[in-house]
Amino acid sequence: MKGVLLAGGSGTRLYPITVAINKHLLPIYNKPMIYYPLSVLMLAGIREVLIVVNPQDEEVFRKLLGDGSRLGMRIQYAIQEKPRGLADGLLVAEDFIGDDSVCMILGDNIFFGHDLPNILRSAKEEVESEGGAVVFGYYVKDPQRFGIVQFDERGKVISIEEKPENPKSNYAVVGLYFYDNQALSYAKEIKPSPRGELEITSVNQEYLKRGSLKVKILGRGFAWFDAGTYDSFLEAGNFVATIENKTGLMIGNIEEIAYRNGWISKEKLLEIADTLRNTSYGEYLKRIANE
Ligand code: G1P
Repeated sequence: MKGVLLAGGSGTRLYPITVAINKHLLPIYNKPMIYYPLSVLMLAGIREVLIVVNPQDEEVFRKLLGDGSRLGMRIQYAIQEKPRGLADGLLVAEDFIGDDSVCMILGDNIFFGHDLPNILRSAKEEVESEGGAVVFGYYVKDPQRFGIVQFDERGKVISIEEKPENPKSNYAVVGLYFYDNQALSYAKEIKPSPRGELEITSVNQEYLKRGSLKVKILGRGFAWFDAGTYDSFLEAGNFVATIENKTGLMIGNIEEIAYRNGWISKEKLLEIADTLRNTSYGEYLKRIANE
C-alpha cells in the first residue's frame, strides 16, 4: 500500500496566517503540522509516500523532509496546479499509486488515541486482503463542517453527505482513507460539487453504492483535530503540549517512529538528534535511542 499525503490547498480559512506560508508547515506546538499525518502513515507501516503540494511550495517541503531516506522511507512530491478538491489529489497521485492500494491522509488532520497503530495496521491489511474502502467516523458537535455518515439501527452505513445543512448524524468522516485501486477509477468518474471541487465524499459514495465501504468508529477515547481553523489549530497545539508535558512522550515524532519501526538505526537516530541542537526535541531522541 502506498501513502498519499495532501498538503496543497489555499488554507483560506486561516488567512492572513496562510497568505505567505503553507498551512501544513505551521507549528502544532513543537513540530510542523505535516509531521502528524506523516506519522500516521508511518504507524500504519507505509514506507512509500507521495506528498501533494502547491507549485510554489515544493522546495520548502523538500527542505523539511527531503527524499525520506533520513527516515528510512521513500518520499516523493507531486504538484497540484490548482486546489480542485481532495479527490483530485488521488488523480494527481495516479502514476505513483500505479496498481497498488492507497492510504490517503489530509495534511491538517491530527490523530491521537489508544491503540491507533493497531487500528491503522488492521485497516491497511483489510483493504489489502479484501479490497474496498475503510474510513473512520468520529462524533463531533459541528457536523455541518464535515463529510457526515449516517447509520441505521444495526450500525449499517446508509448515507454519506458532504457538509450537509441538515446533518443526519454527528459522525464526521475523518481525513484518513484506506482504498483499494478502484478509488482511482471512481475519482475519474465523479463530478465537481457545488463548491466546484472533486469531493472525497463522492468517492466514498461510490464505494457505498457498491457495498464495499466500511466505516469504523473512533470512539470517545480518541482525539481528532482538523487544524484548518483558528480555534482547531490552537486547540490541537494545546492538546499536544498537554499530553507531551504530562507523559514525557511525544506525539507525531517521525524520527522516533522510524526508529521503532526498524527503518533507521540507533546511530542514525543519534545523528539526527545532534542536528536538532539543544532542543528538548533533540534530547528526547537521545533518550529514545538510549532506552
Ligand atoms: C474535508 C472533507 C470532509 C472531511 C474533512 C475532514 O473537508 O471534504 O469530508 O470530513 O476534510 O477533515 P475540508 O477540510 O475540505 O473542508
